[in-house]
Amino acid sequence: MSQNDVLLSVRDLVIHFVTYDGIVKALDGVSFDIYRGEVFGLIGETGCGKTVTSLSILGLLPENARIISGKIFFKGENLLENPEKLRGIRGKGISMIFQDPATSLNPLYKVGDQITKVILTHQNVSKEKARKKAINLLKSVGLPDPERIMNFYPFELSGGMQQRVMIAIALSSNPDLLIADEPTSALDVTVQAQILDLLKKIRDERNISILFITHNFGIVAEICDRVGVMYAGTVVEIGSVENILSNPMHPYTKGLLASIPMPGRRQKLAIIRGTIPSLLDPPPGCRFHPRCPNAMDICRKEKPESVEVEDGHFVACHLFRRGM
Ligand SMILES: Nc1ncnc2c1ncn2[C@@H]1O[C@H](COP(=O)(O)OP(=O)(O)OP(=O)(O)O)[C@@H](O)[C@H]1O
Ligand code: SF4
Ligand SMILES: [Mg+2]
Repeated sequence: MSQNDVLLSVRDLVIHFVTYDGIVKALDGVSFDIYRGEVFGLIGETGCGKTVTSLSILGLLPENARIISGKIFFKGENLLENPEKLRGIRGKGISMIFQDPATSLNPLYKVGDQITKVILTHQNVSKEKARKKAINLLKSVGLPDPERIMNFYPFELSGGMQQRVMIAIALSSNPDLLIADEPTSALDVTVQAQILDLLKKIRDERNISILFITHNFGIVAEICDRVGVMYAGTVVEIGSVENILSNPMHPYTKGLLASIPMPGRRQKLAIIRGTIPSLLDPPPGCRFHPRCPNAMDICRKEKPESVEVEDGHFVACHLFRRGM
C-alpha cells in the first residue's frame, strides 16, 4: 500500500496522567498507520493504553491527561496542532462505538429520536428527511422492522440490537474512520459473531477504515487485516494478521500467543512470568525487560526502536537491531 492510502498516522505519541500518586506514564511513543478501507487492530492486556490511544485520536482525553509529545495525522493534517479541527472531526470524519451500548445510549429518549438528532447536527436536512435517513441506517445495520424500532426505548432492545443502533449512530455522520473499542465484549458469543460480520460488511460496502480494539486474538483473526500489539504503553510489533499469528517475532507477542489455548495443542500453556509493570514507575529501556526471557544488558538501558524485519512487519526489540 502506498503512503497515499494512509488515512490516520499516529507518531511517537507520549501521554501522561497527573494523579495524586504521581505521574502515570501511560503512552511511551506510540506509532502506527491506518490505511483506507482496512480494519486495523490494537491488541494488548488491560492497562496497556488501547483506550487512551483511541481517546487521544478523538480529542476526548480526560482532564488530567497531558499530551507530552507526538503527532496524529488524519488525512494529512496534524490533529494535535489544530484543536479546532479536532472538534469538527469528532463525530464527522471519525466516529466511535464503545464496549457497552447500554451506557452509550440515552435511556430517556426513543432510539429514533437519538439517531435523528445526530443526523440533524451533522447534516443540513429537514426533520422529515433526517427521520427517513435514520430508518435507512437502522435497516443497513440489519435491524428488522426499523420503523417500529424507531419508537423503542433502548431498554426494549437486546444488547446486540443496542450495539447495532450504536453502529447506526456512528455511521450517521458518514465517517472515514470508525473506532470500535471492545465493541463485542459485553455480548454473548453468537451475537458477537453477528456484530463482527456486520462491521466487515460495513467496511466492504462503505470502504471505511476501522480501528478495532480488543484483547482477544481470536477476534483479531476474525476481523482485522493488520494488527499492532501493545505492551505497557508501547507498540511492540505491527504486521499483517497472518504475519503476526504465524510468525510472531517480539518476545511479548510470542508469549501472548503461546498462552492461548488451541484445539489440538497438548503441551502446557506457557505463561509470561511476572506482572504488568506500574506505569507510575515503568521499567527503563524496554518496558518488557523484567519479564522477557531474552533480556540483555542493553534492554535495561535503551528503548528499542521499531525495525522493519520483513515487508510491513515491524518489531521494537533489541534482538532485531538495525544492522544486526
Ligand atoms: N484518567 C486517568 N488517570 C490516570 N491514569 C489513567 C487514566 N486513564 C487511564 N489511565 C491509565 O493509563 C493506562 C492505560 O489505560 P487504558 O485505559 O488505555 O488501557 P486499556 O489498554 O484500554 O485497558 P483495558 O483493556 O482494560 O480497557 C493505565 O495504566 C490506566 O490506569
Ligand atoms: S528489547 Fe530486550 S527485553 Fe525487550 S523484548 Fe527485546 S529482548 Fe526482550
Ligand atoms: Mg480500554
